[in-house]
Amino acid sequence: MRRPAAKKAPKKARRPASLSARLVEHATLQARADGSIVAGVGDHAIELGKVSASAATRAQNLHTGLRLDGAVPRAGSTEKEILRVARRLAGLGLLEYRLANGEGDEVVIEPQVPDYWPRPQPLDPADVLVLSRFAYMRRRGNDLVLESPRAGALFRICNPTVAAAMATLSTPQSIRRLRRQEGFPGKELLALLVDCQILFKVEPGSDAGLRPTEGDDDLVVWDFHDLLFHARSTEGRHANPTGGVYPYVGVMAPLPAVRAPWPGDKIDLRSLCDAQQTTPVAKLLRERHSTRAFDDQQPITLAELAQFLDSAARVQANFTSKLDLDDDSPEVTYAARPYPSGGGCWELELYLAVDTCEGLARGFYHYDAGEHALVPLDVRAAELDAMLAGAEFAMGASAAPQVLITIAARFGRVSWKYSSIAYALVLKDAGVLIQTLYLAATDLGLGGCAIGSVNNDLFARMTGLAFHVEGPVGQFALGRAAKPEAGS
Ligand SMILES: Cc1cc2nc3c(=O)[nH]c(=O)nc-3n(C[C@H](O)[C@H](O)[C@H](O)COP(=O)(O)O)c2cc1C
Repeated sequence: MRRPAAKKAPKKARRPASLSARLVEHATLQARADGSIVAGVGDHAIELGKVSASAATRAQNLHTGLRLDGAVPRAGSTEKEILRVARRLAGLGLLEYRLANGEGDEVVIEPQVPDYWPRPQPLDPADVLVLSRFAYMRRRGNDLVLESPRAGALFRICNPTVAAAMATLSTPQSIRRLRRQEGFPGKELLALLVDCQILFKVEPGSDAGLRPTEGDDDLVVWDFHDLLFHARSTEGRHANPTGGVYPYVGVMAPLPAVRAPWPGDKIDLRSLCDAQQTTPVAKLLRERHSTRAFDDQQPITLAELAQFLDSAARVQANFTSKLDLDDDSPEVTYAARPYPSGGGCWELELYLAVDTCEGLARGFYHYDAGEHALVPLDVRAAELDAMLAGAEFAMGASAAPQVLITIAARFGRVSWKYSSIAYALVLKDAGVLIQTLYLAATDLGLGGCAIGSVNNDLFARMTGLAFHVEGPVGQFALGRAAKPEAGS
């Protein structure tokens, strides 16, 4: 007698995952008797405005998780009030987002840019998705995180099947097909990953080559490590600690200022040169120093600024040259400037945030190095102030610099030619230019100071340029140095 065939257990219907917003661990939320809501971070209290008593009570849900995937709330409703509080908290970087199914969190989403708010993208079963070539997973402490320099948020993976699904998505998959597979991560997660450009839709008929444009032709020339380095080594596109925070004080001793000598017989150079005999260049190099305080009674003049830019950055010669690849290779144009540049690319542009300059209105300008002209850009006053304040903070100064020069790179000029070393070349070029700016300032009796941190996101907002098209890689404060105080 044949054994009756075992009955297949009916496939359990997948419940849609729910998205909620929650306060980050280091923040608190309190309602005051007057109806105002206050966020607390350490010793700081941040007023978020007044809400109704019911909204104040419900807002406490933000400590554990406030559902975001309901219907759009009516104007004037309690939900609308809470959403307003949540948006303020998000703007302050005090929220993270949980995507949970009935059994626990699938992922926790940590914003990396100031304006991140989850916007699940509409998806159709026929849509074909693939993992961005800029996305990666790594261990962070005890967590596995999925991130990308393109993404406005990182995804802390709580359910290992999500990691397996990402591996599947290294080749294009239709949602219809993914849905039939074991460990389907859910449309809700896919929609959030598309929103963060960790996944992207492959459009029918679009390129399927090794470097798909991912919907943006300017990405083709970027290597993975270069885009990551650019996004993580500037401010504005990640939530990691930035700048001189001395993370290893008490953990290990600093390296000595001068390297311990190698063993071996020394060839003493001291008797071979006269340290007192100075050439003009040696004198300039020795006089060069950083100036962080400027003379607000007697600011730099437009004529001095023109002379400074002429000495350090103006295009000196234009020429074209054919690539030595083959007969059909294209001609490339070059615009030589007073400083050397990797591959002769001269990809660096100067943008001037002017606070005080005699003869020039306060504002934001691009230096047209070919025409030797300043072109004003229309920016919001608050953004100009933020840029100048950032430099003041970075220099530990008590006032903004008179002129703040942002060095921005047109990355494609370099990465069109170089693989693996493109971004490193851009940073080397920025260093070369910074020393040139220092020397030109010294020569003209002006003061200057390099600034190592730049805000990618702020620059992008001021110029409207995407961070991977033209972005800041260095800054230089310029002005007339404050007179030394009597007795100093
Ligand atoms: C790449 C680079 C980044 C710098 N970043 C800063 C900065 O953010 N803030 C600052 O006050 N000085 C900055 N400096 C200036 C240095 O602190 C300064 O060059 C150094 O202390 C030596 O002093 P000197 O320039 O007067 O010789 C930077 C210098 C360089 C070359």
